[in-house]
Amino acid sequence: MLELSGASAAYGSVPAISNVSIEVGEGEAVGLLGANGAGKSTTLRAISGLVRLTSGSVTFAGSDLAKLPPYKIPELGIAHVPEGRQVFPEMTVQENLEIGAFVPKAKADRAQTMELVYQIFPRLAERRRQLAGTMSGGEQQMLAVGRGLMLKPRLLMLDEPSLGLAPVMTDVTFEKIAEIHRMGTAILLVEQNVSRALSLVQRAYVLESGRVIMHGTSAELAGNREVQAAYLGI
Ligand SMILES: Nc1ncnc2c1ncn2[C@@H]1O[C@H](COP(=O)(O)OP(=O)(O)O)[C@@H](O)[C@H]1O
Ligand SMILES: [Mg+2]
Repeated sequence: MLELSGASAAYGSVPAISNVSIEVGEGEAVGLLGANGAGKSTTLRAISGLVRLTSGSVTFAGSDLAKLPPYKIPELGIAHVPEGRQVFPEMTVQENLEIGAFVPKAKADRAQTMELVYQIFPRLAERRRQLAGTMSGGEQQMLAVGRGLMLKPRLLMLDEPSLGLAPVMTDVTFEKIAEIHRMGTAILLVEQNVSRALSLVQRAYVLESGRVIMHGTSAELAGNREVQAAYLGI
């Protein structure tokens, strides 16, 4: 469904990813692991069209994403939950969710999708009138994921959803992501928490200095010392 092939991208003259090839099948859960600065967020931005490829290609369900303006990419069913959540702090939970359904197809089903999001995250339902900025980090992360779901995505990309969360909230977040995956949504998960990520995804890629240095099934990668080294950057 999603295919990055030999993708490279840079910030100005500084290369950020080089020759990255990644695939995510329909309904699959795939991990993207690696140390700080390895190029994980850039890879997601390249898929979302927020960063342009300098070479290589990125396609989704037969569409060449590199040829589309960034606002067209969510319309294909790709939701990007960015690093650091980035909810609108001065808006309520409900208003944040409404904004998530910004493409025409999702807008038509907005009320129904919101009920589904509230079923998955009862905490958000309880707080629907609360300003997002007054909620805990874990609740804001739920909201960021919920906002992504409002798009009714075929592929949900999550950038470090457990970053800065207490262990209990990390558990909840991972359970919810697993639930969303079981409902049929493909997941591309960027995580620093390697063991937790590998317990959720079926396959993963390991990035180091902008390159894929390893990929395999979760079973193959779990316990692999090189994976640990790549993550720790040693
Ligand atoms: N906005 C930016 N401007 C310039 N360089 C950046 C920017 N964002 C990231 N980089 C650089 O690109 C490389 C990859 O970063 P990033 O994709 O954010 O890594 P990760 O998400 O794995 O921590 C790093 O060397 C980082 O310093
Ligand atoms: Mg990042």
